[in-house]
Amino acid sequence: MSRRRQIYEGKAKILYEGPEPGTIIQYFKDDATAFNAQKKGSISGKGVINNRISEHIYGILEGMGIPTHFIKRVNMREQLVKKVDIVPLEIIVRNVAAGSMSKRLGIEEGTPLSRAIVEFCLKDDALGDPLIAEEHVLAFGWASEEELDEITATALRVNDIMSGIFAAIGIKLIDFKLEFGRHYTDDGIELLLADEISPDSCRFWDIKTMEKLDKDRFRRDLGGEVEAYQEVARRLGVLPEEAEGNNGAGIKAVGK
Ligand code: TMP
Ligand code: ASP
Repeated sequence: MSRRRQIYEGKAKILYEGPEPGTIIQYFKDDATAFNAQKKGSISGKGVINNRISEHIYGILEGMGIPTHFIKRVNMREQLVKKVDIVPLEIIVRNVAAGSMSKRLGIEEGTPLSRAIVEFCLKDDALGDPLIAEEHVLAFGWASEEELDEITATALRVNDIMSGIFAAIGIKLIDFKLEFGRHYTDDGIELLLADEISPDSCRFWDIKTMEKLDKDRFRRDLGGEVEAYQEVARRLGVLPEEAEGNNGAGIKAVGK
């Protein structure tokens, strides 16, 4: 399709060199993995929908003064973003017990938490992204104390904003994962929210029915992944026209 240089291929996205120095094209694939890629599959049209959902949320966050890597969506599957060095941490914010925390601590899924919990995992596939403490981050120099403070404060702000966005469309934000990156400018290093925010990286439950509207449908073999991702996009008002009423087949056809 093009002669641009591929920089990196991850499990759900490919990064290409952008048109200007300091920019990257982020391409959203339909590939889905779980359990550190032990389970592999594909969710038809996921890349198109995640591109739209992430664009929408990053736009709101930027508008609320949160610096992000997002510049603009360029087509159905791609967005232009600022080039960053990813801080090797996955920041998980939880409002309701679920997933690995429920398993680890024996707390029933769906138990509301009295306050939001911020967890840190080391971003290292070979180690299975282990849970770590702030002390590890500082002792091993994965982020400075100022960066860690900024990351935690921003993650909690993102939680407040996103909880509101999703409550307004009948969805409970159970938990989500963020990544941050260092962007080098003439004025120094700026910490930016990076990667994506989508049903791949969040748990969304319908407030009324508690139905899961996220990647847990794939992880847990529940079926209905395409419909769930489309439902989130539809409620946010960003479902691509091609996807309306055709169960994702149309989205697949237009992907590039
Ligand atoms: P967990 O309960 O499996 O630790 O997941 C917490 C949140 O982080 C959940 O919303 C899904 C998201 N997540 C990712 O985005 N990437 C991952 O690799 C994992 C394990 C979780
Ligand atoms: N993205 C992760 C992986 O494959 C896991 C997940 O989202 O559950 O490995």
